Amino acid sequence: MTDSTAVPEPGGHAARTTHAAAGADTDVVAIAPDPAVAQGILEDAPAAEIFDADTEAKARNLIGRYPQSRSALLPMLHLVQSVQGYVSQEGIAFCARQLELSEAEVSAVATFYTMYKRRPCGEHLVSVCTNTLCAALGGDAIYKKLSEHLGAGHEETSGEPGTPGSITLEHAECLAACDLAPVLQVNYEYYDKQSEQSAVELVEALRRGEKPAPTRGAPLTDFKGAELQLAGFFPEDEETYRSHVDGPSQAVETLRGARIAADRGWTAPVMEDVPLPEVEKK
Ligand code: FES
Repeated sequence: MTDSTAVPEPGGHAARTTHAAAGADTDVVAIAPDPAVAQGILEDAPAAEIFDADTEAKARNLIGRYPQSRSALLPMLHLVQSVQGYVSQEGIAFCARQLELSEAEVSAVATFYTMYKRRPCGEHLVSVCTNTLCAALGGDAIYKKLSEHLGAGHEETSGEPGTPGSITLEHAECLAACDLAPVLQVNYEYYDKQSEQSAVELVEALRRGEKPAPTRGAPLTDFKGAELQLAGFFPEDEETYRSHVDGPSQAVETLRGARIAADRGWTAPVMEDVPLPEVEKK
């Protein structure tokens, strides 16, 4: 274990692989993120050591929530990330086994969505919006500043992935908070109206082990904790649950248009009830 008070050295770190034996499945080789990862495939822990009985029970719980087991794939990939901090080849095999899917089917989903990471993440994932509005209002400059400060580029980690204070940086597309631009997220929690300086102060606090309160929404956890929530697992006690995942998420800026409309009695025009066109059955 790494000393939890140690501040990681700046600089991008190669993904440390925890893949289990992959066999000769060509699909498996095709989705390996890079040669270093592929090389690690034969060296690491077997599935049973990675995904324990508790994780298996959670996987069965997820399956029970859906009429068809394959519908549990998206939350199950989050569950895998809550254990490993990314979707490893073994994570893909785990989902495939639980859901009676092929590894190719699971891989196709895991590699499509950007929320499923193909390399081990840091304790925290920092996503900087560099889409048009945020970019124009400072998002590009914030990303560049953080990249230089952390010594990490897109999807690279400053510090040893998974250890305290390690931070993975990424570009993000529009985070649906353009009215609060430029924004960034830490483990998908919002930090609105950022500047280069505030963003650097934020990552420095994270490196020191602090968890600065997001601008709105739930309190900050870490990447794996957020992934467990995204998988759909929360504290059973209502009060603890609320304190972990709840929080005021509205922003004055977001509601301003609705407030003005309400004050002035504006309403949207009523849409005519037009019948939908016939669609040929597949
Ligand atoms: S462009 Fe950044 S939140 Fe929409």
